[in-house]
Parts: sequence; C-alpha cells; structure tokens
Amino acid sequence: MTFDIVTIFPAMFEQPLAAGVIGRAIERGVLDVKIRDLRDFTADRHRVVDDVPFGGGPGMVLKADPMFRAIDAIEADRGQPLTVVLTSPQGARLTQETAQRLSRLAHVAILCGRYEGVDERVRERVSEELSIGDYVLTGGELPAMVILEAVARLVPGVVGDEQSVAADSFSRGLLDFPQYTRPATLTVPGPRGPADRSVPDVLLSGNHADIRRWRKREAVARTLERRPDLLTGADLDGEEQEILREMIAQRHK
Ligand code: ADE
Repeated sequence: MTFDIVTIFPAMFEQPLAAGVIGRAIERGVLDVKIRDLRDFTADRHRVVDDVPFGGGPGMVLKADPMFRAIDAIEADRGQPLTVVLTSPQGARLTQETAQRLSRLAHVAILCGRYEGVDERVRERVSEELSIGDYVLTGGELPAMVILEAVARLVPGVVGDEQSVAADSFSRGLLDFPQYTRPATLTVPGPRGPADRSVPDVLLSGNHADIRRWRKREAVARTLERRPDLLTGADLDGEEQEILREMIAQRHK
C-alpha cells in the first residue's frame, strides 16, 4: 500500500516511520510512504505556506494553492484514483472500521492540517476529513501518523502475526483479556507496603480449554465494565454471548 503525506514538518515523520513494525514493512517494500514538504509546492521566493484569515482573527490559515499543487504532483506521480484524507478536529472520528476500509485501498494521500485552519477551498479536493478524537492538537502531523499506523497494520504482510490483528479489541467489539509474562510472582509496591502479586493460577495450569474460557470471561467482564457501548455492535460467539447474559443477570440480582 502506498501513502503520501503532505506536511510543513517532514522531520516529524522520520523516526516514527523508521521504527518497529512500520519501519520494517517499509524496508520490505510492503508499504511505500512518501513524505512531501508543502513548502516544495509554493511558487514564491519565500516559500510561504500560510496567510492571515480573511475577515480577521487570530492565527494563520494554510493556503490552498500549495495544497492543490501537492495533490497534483502526487496524482501525476502515482496515478489515479487518489483518496485524499485531510486531518482536522472537524472531521469524522477515526474508528477501526474506517481504518479497515482505508486499508483496502491501494493508495491514500494524507494532508496534514493546522489547527488554526486550512483554506476552506482545499476541501473540494478532499475525499474525507478525519479527526483522531475530540481534543485539539497544534497540527495534523501526529494525527496523520496515527491514521497511517491504524491503517497500515491492517495491510496483509505488515504485522507478522495475522492472528493478532484479527483478535484486536476493536475488530470484534471486545476489549482484550489481561496478559501476564514472567515472573509468575512479583513484589509490587503499594500504599500499605510491598505485596506479592501472582499470575492467575489458570494461566499456569496448562489446561487450554480452561485458559480459553477464563480469557473470554475476562474480556467480556472488562468490556461490560469499561466500554459497555462496544457490546451493542460486538461480534460475539455463542459462548461469549452466554457469558455476557450471565454477567448481566448477576448484576441485576
Ligand atoms: N488537528 C488538530 N487536532 C486534531 C485532531 N484531534 N484530529 C485530527 N486533526 C487534528
């Protein structure tokens, strides 16, 4: 899959794209990510990318022209069809479902906005506007990286273990069960002094059927406790549905 990111801070992408799963996928050629400096698409000597807003007010607005030239350049380089995403707090909230839909595309361009704004006419060339949550950041660079991560890890071959992608919390609408690793017993400092904390016995039992059931119970319990909203659209198997019914009945006792 191919990504083009248009930004006024290209350096912000260097380390995140070099590290970990994404870095390896780029190295292997499963992902092709090109960072494009918006300033390279200006036509003036001072390479100006922003200007004061018409009508007055604080802050600067990203100019439309350099964005248009950047989109033209990407189109010329990569060919149509092009899905253009603009990051903005006014956009639709990014969800796992959106990430899944985008991961099926061959090519996505992401325009990084600035929080003060982007000339409204840029939106005419944007396929969708995405927000990563109801809070305001100073710019669209971190959101662009978040979108890229969420989408790219769903592209076959990016994450080594396809099973771990399929088992994701938000793919099925269940939060993850608790995980432990060695040592089996650990001394944890607490308000009333250190206490020994052990891994649940079932995980050390070697009984795979019991472990599977315990994990399902924990996942359902956590989701019911922390994110009951997810359960409405959740894709639960028969056993999980039964566990959920039991837990709800218990609560009403
Ligand atoms: N730009 C500033 N804040 C943002 C957010 N929450 N999501 C996407 N882009 C943004």
